[in-house]
Amino acid sequence: MTVPLLSIRHLHVHFPIRRGFFGHSAGLLRAVDGVDLDIEAGRSLALVGESGSGKSTLGAAVVGMQKPSSGQIFFEGSDLASTGADRSAARLRDIQIVFQDPVSALNPRMDIGDSIAEPLAIHGVGTGQERRRRVAELLELVGLNPAHANRKPNAFSGGQRQRIVIARAIALQPKLLILDEPVSALDVSIRSQILNLLFELQRQFGLSYLFISHDLSVVRHFADRIAVMYLGRIAEVGATTDVFARPTHPYTEALLSAVPLPDPVAQRQRQRILLEGDLPSPANPPAGCRFSTRCPIAAAICQELSPELNLLGRNHQAACHLRAPPVGIKGAT
Ligand SMILES: Nc1ncnc2c1ncn2[C@@H]1O[C@H](COP(=O)(O)OP(=O)(O)OP(=O)(O)O)[C@@H](O)[C@H]1O
Ligand code: SF4
Ligand SMILES: [Mg+2]
Repeated sequence: MTVPLLSIRHLHVHFPIRRGFFGHSAGLLRAVDGVDLDIEAGRSLALVGESGSGKSTLGAAVVGMQKPSSGQIFFEGSDLASTGADRSAARLRDIQIVFQDPVSALNPRMDIGDSIAEPLAIHGVGTGQERRRRVAELLELVGLNPAHANRKPNAFSGGQRQRIVIARAIALQPKLLILDEPVSALDVSIRSQILNLLFELQRQFGLSYLFISHDLSVVRHFADRIAVMYLGRIAEVGATTDVFARPTHPYTEALLSAVPLPDPVAQRQRQRILLEGDLPSPANPPAGCRFSTRCPIAAAICQELSPELNLLGRNHQAACHLRAPPVGIKGAT
């Protein structure tokens, strides 16, 4: 069996809540609270869920910007979490992150060529001339004119700036890119161009992606697998085709009901599932199933016991007492 490129096991990221003048500890905010996930080499996993579910915190822990409270993050078989927030040399090169907002990601006073060359300079890769050649190659790869390397970011559109950010992220030939809402700040017309670019780079270089998004329709044609996150935990994970064809967790069902269908007749007949209430606070999550306060089919057991992820098919798991009971126990719905 091959070792996944990335294996997250029992990952917890808790933030202390401080109150009062002396900053006394007043409990913990459980942003990520027991997550297991794998990403295979050359594959993409989408992490979806509503605002505050812990997606960015998980991405930050993988890239080493956030110290895990406990758990393991294995990269090519070795545990990164044991080194805490330390961004070791290997990790800095092999795992890169692209954020939502390309404007704040680029220094407005720096030529874009220097921004792209920055990681190479930090790691002492190549001579000045070699770096300039690599910058030209990277600009071409992301569909920009190499002759524009000496321009400032404000000479470029939002989509072009995200291309520059992507060029910088792949400068060191990483193996894994964390894409934290990479197209959410862009015009709808530009989004598919950036998604196509990411797709093409993956095909060419065998990159793996952790693609964070609150929008399932964005990841449908992009990701091999989808993990649905709710209040710090994974509610459902599986091949994109399985999750779209057989959404099992009531939260996934509700998220999917908001995704427009290509067939207008099916779209007219479809019932949107509107969830009541807001996401509960991760500082005080509901007992039992995290989703129990908003779940349309919750039963008594849901307030008592936290459901584990159980297998539904070869590559599909959900955490729901009723819809995904352990093998051998019949579900109630
Ligand atoms: N550095 C921090 N200190 C304290 N709390 C934090 C910190 N970072 C995130 N949180 C909290 O952790 C929870 C998860 O936040 P996170 O940003 O990971 O969610 P998200 O799923 O990425 O949301 P969004 O879709 O809005 O980006 C939120 O309640 C957030 O307020
Ligand atoms: S375990 Fe219960 S509350 Fe949670 S999703 Fe399933 S039915 Fe709903
Ligand atoms: Mg986020």
